[in-house]
Amino acid sequence: MRTMKTAAGSVPAALGLALGLALTAGSALGHGDVQPQPVNTDGLKPLGAEWVAENPYKGDKHAVAIGASGFNQNCARCHGLEMISGGLAPDLRYLPQGKEGDEYFVERMKHGAVINGVTKMPAFEGVISQEGLWAIRSYIESKHEE
Ligand code: HEC
Repeated sequence: MRTMKTAAGSVPAALGLALGLALTAGSALGHGDVQPQPVNTDGLKPLGAEWVAENPYKGDKHAVAIGASGFNQNCARCHGLEMISGGLAPDLRYLPQGKEGDEYFVERMKHGAVINGVTKMPAFEGVISQEGLWAIRSYIESKHEE
């Protein structure tokens, strides 16, 4: 079921560790084994394995379009279609803009959300490419509301 071995072979140790954690978190997930959907990032500048600190695609229309699809396939079941939350998970339209929101976003992608030992959200680092995740972040920011 899990197809992350190729990625794990080529990433630095710290990332590999996080990847292992992501796997652990994924298998503890109570929502059944929903496969993450790959995000096609053709046309976006490649970023490599190290996390960049700020969204490199901020405001890029192509990235927003890719992110919309990636979001609806991987995040919407909890965070709501078109990012309008039905209450199951936070409404991401209110995630801070700019660097503050970027940092928060990266932390969530690395660790997901584990509350009292229960995985409420799986980690996505190593599951969706960094390019795909920043595209999703671009989509989130495009829908920002105060
Ligand atoms: C299985 C359900 C689930 C999925 C799938 C999911 N999330 Fe979450 N997410 C949650 C929950 C629940 C929280 C709140 C955890 C908490 O209260 O700390 C959360 C929190 C977050 C937060 C922090 C929001 C805040 O205001 O604190 C971000 C950012 C986030 N998710 C992004 C994503 C993205 C991007 C995806 C898809 C790549 C995703 N999530 C997929 C359930 C999910």
